[in-house]
Amino acid sequence: MAGSGSSPDARRRLQVGVLGLGRMGRFHAENLAGRVARCDLACVSDLDADRGEQVARELGVPFVADPDAVLADGGVDAVVVATPSASHAELSIAAARAGKHTFCEKPISLDHDETLAALEAIERSGVVFQVGLHRRFDPDWVMVADRARGGELGDLYFYRAALRDMSSPPASFLTGSGGMFLDVSLHDLDVARWWMGEVVEVWAQGAVLTDRAFADHGDVDVAVITLRFESGALGVIDNGRSAGYGYESSAEVVGSKASMYIGNRPPHGVESRMPGWRSLAVARDFTERYPLAYRLELEGFAASVLDGAPVRASGWDALAAFELGMAAARSQRAGRPVRTRPHPTAHGVRYDIETDDALDVGHPAGRT
Ligand SMILES: NC(=O)c1ccc[n+]([C@@H]2O[C@H](COP(=O)([O-])OP(=O)(O)OC[C@H]3O[C@@H](n4cnc5c(N)ncnc54)[C@H](O)[C@@H]3O)[C@@H](O)[C@H]2O)c1
Repeated sequence: MAGSGSSPDARRRLQVGVLGLGRMGRFHAENLAGRVARCDLACVSDLDADRGEQVARELGVPFVADPDAVLADGGVDAVVVATPSASHAELSIAAARAGKHTFCEKPISLDHDETLAALEAIERSGVVFQVGLHRRFDPDWVMVADRARGGELGDLYFYRAALRDMSSPPASFLTGSGGMFLDVSLHDLDVARWWMGEVVEVWAQGAVLTDRAFADHGDVDVAVITLRFESGALGVIDNGRSAGYGYESSAEVVGSKASMYIGNRPPHGVESRMPGWRSLAVARDFTERYPLAYRLELEGFAASVLDGAPVRASGWDALAAFELGMAAARSQRAGRPVRTRPHPTAHGVRYDIETDDALDVGHPAGRT
């Protein structure tokens, strides 16, 4: 059985089970079935037996109907949790108790206290735990992080990021998504901290402009978040659920010496030219935009389990981004900026969030 903190052994391979085979889980399973170094897909599981059996057949691995049976399988070293967000914490805790290293999709839970309880239980178990903040493995985003944090751009004064889906997710996903700020904005908020440092104020606005279904769920489908960083720098994030033209994920950081920009990378390099006009393809979704990052994040996970390499997208990173997402949701509801107070803990930075009355000092993160 593989273990964390073990000495590097290039010959060992991680046997991984995938729980949940929807949009994301199926993609992880396909990657693990041959495209991820040092990993083998051991089995797949889904509450929808028809879907599970079909994926298992296609990928040539066993289908296990009961996720608990995957956790009890001594031949499985690790699991990918790609079920709906509300079930992540329970499954991750069960996996940790069963000694399975866990790669969990974001967010860890839709509830702050449950997230914290899960992280504490996982920490006690000693298994490796990584969250699906895939940009922390994308070479472009890593390059900007290294240069921005390494001082090459000078004093950083502006961060801008856009994340827009081409079309709304299915209604079945929306019900348990956690809403725009915890489901979508989480990625850009995580990158904001990673590139720029900690955030001391969040001001979010949202609207339902493209799909009325979001109003039925008390959610928004277009959002703008402005950030003020501890350093004094400013940031702007724009998020959308149905951009129409394609999937957008781009970002920029501006410093006193230089700036860096990551454009919306096309899924292939063919440029079409016609009189007075040229065009490039646009990715339709996250799997077309980030095929490499989704593979590398699993290779990074394997390196943490097999070699003891530091986890690059930890549960505590995900919690900090979640807390900023909570602050954005609160700001949007209240219609005003919300102060956030970062404070270091033994595991990483956590945020106190201003309530309607005052800053929630001392409370784990403030409640929405
Ligand atoms: N990192 C990213 O870029 C990214 C992108 C999309 C989705 N996600 C995350 O991935 C997760 C899944 O999203 P999705 O769009 O794939 O959802 P989905 O609704 O398409 O798929 C969920 C699947 O899980 C199955 N399932 C439900 N409960 C289960 C359980 N207890 N055990 C086993 N299977 C179960 C369902 O039958 C379904 O097949 C969400 O948490 C979402 O936030 C992350």
